[in-house]
Amino acid sequence: MSSSVTLPADFSNKNLVWIPNEKLALSLALVCGEPDSVGWVDVESIETGERLRISTDDCQKSNTAEYENCENMTIFPCLNEPSILKNLKHRFVSNVFYTYSGQTCIFINPYKHIPIYTDSISKDYQGKKRKEMPPHIFAIADEAYRKMIYEGKGQTILCTGESGAGKTENSKKIIKHLVYVAGNRSGVDSSSTVEQNRIFMDTLENRLIHVNPILEAFGNSKTSKNYNSSRFGKFVKIHFDKNGLILGASIETFLLESSRITNQEQDDRTFHIFYQMIQGLSKSQRDVLFIKDKAVDYEFLKNGCDKIPCVNDADEYRQTLQAMLMMGLNDEQINQIHRIASAILLFGDLNFSQVNKDDDQAALVNKNVADQIADLLGVDAQKLIESILKPKIEVQGSSTHRSQTIDQT
Ligand SMILES: Nc1ncnc2c1ncn2[C@@H]1O[C@H](COP(=O)(O)OP(=O)(O)OP(=O)(O)O)[C@@H](O)[C@H]1O
Ligand SMILES: [Mg+2]
Repeated sequence: MSSSVTLPADFSNKNLVWIPNEKLALSLALVCGEPDSVGWVDVESIETGERLRISTDDCQKSNTAEYENCENMTIFPCLNEPSILKNLKHRFVSNVFYTYSGQTCIFINPYKHIPIYTDSISKDYQGKKRKEMPPHIFAIADEAYRKMIYEGKGQTILCTGESGAGKTENSKKIIKHLVYVAGNRSGVDSSSTVEQNRIFMDTLENRLIHVNPILEAFGNSKTSKNYNSSRFGKFVKIHFDKNGLILGASIETFLLESSRITNQEQDDRTFHIFYQMIQGLSKSQRDVLFIKDKAVDYEFLKNGCDKIPCVNDADEYRQTLQAMLMMGLNDEQINQIHRIASAILLFGDLNFSQVNKDDDQAALVNKNVADQIADLLGVDAQKLIESILKPKIEVQGSSTHRSQTIDQT
C-alpha cells in the first residue's frame, strides 16, 4: 500500500474502493457509475487520476476518513483485508504499534526500542477499562487479571504469530504487568500482609524474569528470521489467590526443536548456550570441560554460522550464569549443566569406520573423544563405547547385543 495515498480529509463518498495495483499491491479508487450487467465498473485512481474498467470482484470497499487511525477495527463498516492493512500501516508509521480487533490485540513489531513498558505505564493501565486507554499489551494483561478476580475464573492469553512477530517479548511484558498489578494490589488485606506479599513478589518477579535468559540460552537460536528465535513452545501458568495475590508460577515447555543440535542451515545457529560457553568460559574452564576454541571446530556446528551481529556471546554467557545463580542453582549443578552441554557437542565428533569388508560392524576411530564424553558424563568409557557400537536390545524377553553399522552409530 502507498503511504502517500490518504483519504481526503472531507471525504464522505461511500464509493471509495481498493483495487489491485501492480506496484503497490493495492491502491484507492473512486467508483464512477453503476456496474454493468456482467459486473464490470469504471473506477478512477485517487493517486494518478487514471480511469480503469475493472471487475467488481476486484474491488474491495474502503472505509471513510473518520475510520482512519482506528483503535478497534471491529467498528469498521468495511472489515476487509485492505482496510485492516491500511489502518495498521497508518498507525505503524505514526509509531503506534498496538491495535485491537475485538478481543484480539494486534502488534506490529517495530524492531526498535519503544519506551512504553515502564512501571509508570503499568500504573496508568492498572484497573482501567480498555476504552479508557490506547491499545497496549498491558491492557490485555490488566483485563485478564480483573476478569479473573471479578468472575473468579482462570484466564488465558495466547500470543501467536509468525517467527519474529514479538510473541516472546510480549509474553514477558504480560508477566511484567501481572507481577506489577498483583504486587501493588492494596486494600485486600492488612498492610503487613501486603508488605510481606510485596517482598515475596519481588523474589517471584526476579525468578519469573530471570528464568527467561536460561530458557532462551537453552531453547532459542538464531534463524534467518529472528536472531533470538524460540525453538520450543512455552506455557506459563501464574497462580493467584482469590484476592489477586500471586501464590506461585510454573512454566511448561514443549516441542523443543532438538534436531537443531546436530545440523543447522547456513544462516542459522544451534542453541545459544553452546556459543556462549565457547566465548564466555575461560581457557582453563574450557580445558577442563574439553570445550574447543571455535564453534566451527565441532562437527555439529560447522554448517551453521557462529556469530550474531551486535550480540556478544561472552556477555550473554555471563547473563545466563547470573540467571542460573538467581534461580538458586549451586556451583555443582551449574558445572553439571556445562559438562552435559559439552558432551552433547563432542558426540558429533566421534568418528567410526568399518571393522572389515565382510562385516558391517562399525568401530570407533577416536577413542580419546569417547573418553572425554565419558569423563564429562561420569560414566565408564568402555560401556559408553559398547552402548554405541553394540547396544543392548531386548529380544523375546532376553537381552542381546546388536551390531551397529557406521550409519546406525
Ligand atoms: N515490544 C517490542 N518492542 C521492541 N522490539 C521488539 C518488541 N517485540 C519484539 N521486538 C524485537 O523483535 C525481535 C523478535 O521478537 P520475538 O523474539 O518476541 O519474536 P517471536 O514471535 O517470539 O519469534 P519466534 O517465533 O521466532 O520465537 C526481538 O528480539 C526484538 O528485537
Ligand atoms: Mg519467541
